[in-house]
Amino acid sequence: MSRKSCKIVLITSCKGGVGKSTVTANLALALAKRGKRVLAVDCDFSNRTLDLLFGCEDTVLYDLFDVIEERVSLGEALLRDTRADELQLLPAPFLHGEIPNGNFSDRFSAVLDEAQDLFDIILIDTPGSADALLALAASFADMALIVTGHHPAAVRGAEKTGLLLDSRGVPSQYLVVNRFDSEAVLDGRRPGINSIIDMTHTPILGVIPDDRALELGQESGKLYTESAARNTACAFGNLAARVIGEHIPLFAGFRRLRRRRLVER
Ligand SMILES: Nc1ncnc2c1ncn2[C@@H]1O[C@H](COP(=O)(O)OP(=O)(O)OP(=O)(O)O)[C@@H](O)[C@H]1O
Ligand SMILES: [Mg+2]
Repeated sequence: MSRKSCKIVLITSCKGGVGKSTVTANLALALAKRGKRVLAVDCDFSNRTLDLLFGCEDTVLYDLFDVIEERVSLGEALLRDTRADELQLLPAPFLHGEIPNGNFSDRFSAVLDEAQDLFDIILIDTPGSADALLALAASFADMALIVTGHHPAAVRGAEKTGLLLDSRGVPSQYLVVNRFDSEAVLDGRRPGINSIIDMTHTPILGVIPDDRALELGQESGKLYTESAARNTACAFGNLAARVIGEHIPLFAGFRRLRRRRLVER
């Protein structure tokens, strides 16, 4: 846990494919739109994704490992987002998921330390397994957002992730329920908000709708501001507000939603 004012937020889950990278990229933009200087760090070494989601894969020259190995400076490796000047990306290397030998963790810590002087919030996107990299990243986090899908197996994965983060001493853990299907809650096929909290013993910081437009937009490097349903855009704005400590309701601004029934079920 850092002592600087810049907050390090881990976006994580032991389960693959639940939307960690999607939440990282879109939350990063939503925070930047609120005037925060944001760095998104791609720590998924086996499956580099954030450059694709930001639509900047053709401009990647250097990556986190180049900085760690001191081949380039941090500033040389950072990529500025075209949608928001305050948002920058540090791409992942292609390392087959392994933490390299040597003093990797000390150097990683030094890179984060340097980045903390330049940014208000650092989001770390982690791989979808309980591997050594997740454990290392967890040791630097001030806060963890555990991303879960809305189906029971994903919710169980979130509970397991919480236990791992407990063992690493991550102080503030919250859930982000991704691909939330409100129709399925209303007809009893999926758990509502209170049931998910009961199942995971973790407070919910954000609920992101299941949104085909968001998914399709990702194929051409679009984020929520360019291709997503209105409620999805609201959801990322609300999540960003809650990450920086604003007290707003989970579903603030959502249209056509039976909020009370979604929460009580
Ligand atoms: N809210 C959403 N609505 C619709 N599709 C989504 C949503 N969130 C994520 N997806 C889709 O789900 C898939 C997995 O998302 P993503 O890559 O963000 O997951 P991940 O947890 O980072 O995966 P991995 O464990 O492989 O790193 C992608 O095809 C993405 O477009
Ligand atoms: Mg990912």
